[in-house]
Amino acid sequence: MNVLDFAKRKCRGEKISMVTCYDFWSARILNNSDVDTLLVGDSLAMVMHGYDSTVHATVEMMATHIAAVRRGAPDKFIIGDMPFLAVRKGLGPAMDAVAALMQAGGNCVKIEGAAGQLDIMAHIVESGVPVMGHLGLTPQSVEAFGGHKVQGRSEGDAAQILQAAKALQEAGCFALVLECVPAELGRMVTEQLDIPTIGIGAGAATDGQVLVLQDMLGMDGGFQPKFLRHYAAGEQTIAAAVNAYHADVVSGAFPCQSEMYA
Ligand code: KIV
Repeated sequence: MNVLDFAKRKCRGEKISMVTCYDFWSARILNNSDVDTLLVGDSLAMVMHGYDSTVHATVEMMATHIAAVRRGAPDKFIIGDMPFLAVRKGLGPAMDAVAALMQAGGNCVKIEGAAGQLDIMAHIVESGVPVMGHLGLTPQSVEAFGGHKVQGRSEGDAAQILQAAKALQEAGCFALVLECVPAELGRMVTEQLDIPTIGIGAGAATDGQVLVLQDMLGMDGGFQPKFLRHYAAGEQTIAAAVNAYHADVVSGAFPCQSEMYA
């Protein structure tokens, strides 16, 4: 998978699969999986660092995780998320952030939003760095949205998202993440754009889907938003394995003879 394959997939009507990945050991597993592409999302601030929003991700944090994922997944197309306000501090700091993410091992950057930053996004594209857009529920704006809420429900909001999507395509974005919008809006944006859309909670018509790896693996069994499907019961599986280990240590069943050096 390279940046040109995204457009080819859309032309051929072939769906694109994406999962988040934040660390070396899961990157090793995913490098040998069929998944098309890995997103080092700023959601790592919540999933890996325990913060309550993605606002806490920094350029340094993102670069560290991208480098770890690149070491574990040398063969995958890696998307590096530009963190909170990284494109809003002026051209110089924005380009420094892009450089940090790309030099860490990213194949492209993903940027939330459109209004007020289209020129900078076009400049990044013109600099030779592929840019993926991100509209709908853009979590870095969670305070402005008043929480993690579905976006684009009213006719006016939907029209605004559609217009922003076209502006991002015009600015040179090669693909677009659509997060938590009504399925009908997901379909409309997908049909009206030439670039592929990757949905998360945006219905079935988008050109691809993305999920947070830990969410789809059921690492927090209680986290079950409408759009999420659990493909494993990770939380129970890991807890059961660790409890079995604990029981074996306490009973003396671990280690056994074959697990000891002579
Ligand atoms: O940071 C992230 O994980 C994301 C996806 C949810 C699209 O941006």
